[in-house]
Amino acid sequence: MIVNRPDRVRATIEVPSDKSISHRALIFNAIADGRATIEGILDSEDVRSTAACLAALGVSIDWPDGANVAIVQGSGLHALFEAEDVLDCRNSGTTMRLLTGLLSAHPILSILTGDDQLRRRPMARIISPLRRMGAHIHARTGDTLAPLAIKGGDLRGYAHDNTVASAQVKSAILLAGLYAEGETTVTEPFRSRDHTERMLSAMGAVLKSRGETKLSITPAQHLSPLSLRVPGDISSAAPWLVLGACHPDAEIVVRNVNTNPTRTGMLDILRAMGADIEVNEERTTGGEPVADIVVRTSRLHGITIGGALVPRAIDELPLVAILGCFAEGETIVQDAEELIVKETDRVAATVQALGRLGAKVQPRADGFSVSGPIAGFQGGRVDAGGDHRIGMLAGIAGCLAEGTTRVDNDAVAVSYPGFWDDLARAAEGTAARS
Ligand code: S3P
Repeated sequence: MIVNRPDRVRATIEVPSDKSISHRALIFNAIADGRATIEGILDSEDVRSTAACLAALGVSIDWPDGANVAIVQGSGLHALFEAEDVLDCRNSGTTMRLLTGLLSAHPILSILTGDDQLRRRPMARIISPLRRMGAHIHARTGDTLAPLAIKGGDLRGYAHDNTVASAQVKSAILLAGLYAEGETTVTEPFRSRDHTERMLSAMGAVLKSRGETKLSITPAQHLSPLSLRVPGDISSAAPWLVLGACHPDAEIVVRNVNTNPTRTGMLDILRAMGADIEVNEERTTGGEPVADIVVRTSRLHGITIGGALVPRAIDELPLVAILGCFAEGETIVQDAEELIVKETDRVAATVQALGRLGAKVQPRADGFSVSGPIAGFQGGRVDAGGDHRIGMLAGIAGCLAEGTTRVDNDAVAVSYPGFWDDLARAAEGTAARS
């Protein structure tokens, strides 16, 4: 993609639907008793991976190519069949981790693999608690890396103290807990996104919250199907919020964004950095709060981001490096070691991508820091390394750079297939296919 800086940015963006909620709507409805309609499901590579794995396990999903409605015919908690072949989760960590939790409770053999990025991501964090619950799971390199071979069966409840705040780990264990004998409890250091809890509760599962970071589930006899409309993804809204705040002549409206408080860390970060941002028309869609967000050209100042804010903005943190380049003073992202084990090492990838455009972002063992404001980005050539969030980061940085930027290997189809088209519309003709 070729990107040039527009003189002015005026746009209204309808962001694509939430990826986390789309995965969950498919997986949970696959084990419900009956039919559910998922309106506005995100049609992206990751969500298609989940649908394909479920179909291989015998679930009936009607989701034609290009359609934004999927119909799932659930056959109950115990109706998955052994797949004839390996299940390919491709680039999707959510697919692999949630399905591992679910398949741990099924007395069938399942082998889960993924692309070269997913096969490098840590799986011991789910393997070890699920084994303690009674699942048989084997993996490469000392049981840490996919492919994973799972033979599930009778599970017993377990109290897992998670050392990382991860909704994927929490959800894998809760799914297994739905089938386990007795109570299963997950504790995390900080609260991670709570879509699983919301959705499973709405489907009739019994979950108890014990304070902010502790949650328990007891086995379910059945789940009721949950039809819903999926709200817009705040992780896909974040690039626009950053472009609006940093561009010298911008006003962007992002419509229908999920403002679930476990996901709104980026809004808190923007406000704390002094961004001109408004959150309007709060309403509810699919059991989740949504709002329209307006962002305008802003005078930013640096802040330190860490602790409980990190899981609430985990996928947006690379974009904070752009904000830091335009902010007065130092911006520090700390306590964010998890960035290193995402689709790529996002600390290194952010430092490298913005470095190619002339910005000095300093890596830290647990994040990064930037001293701003910098003189501005210079156009250049960025290889996003097949990481969708880095592809979008580079596209936005290119819109703020003097001269032309070329982005290779952007992978935006993983979560936001229309990203470059929206960028071309927002920033009049700035993005073109190379
Ligand atoms: C996700 C949780 C987060 C996030 C990922 C989606 C989810 O991962 O980074 O993009 O849908 O549960 P972790 O749970 O590993 O933090």
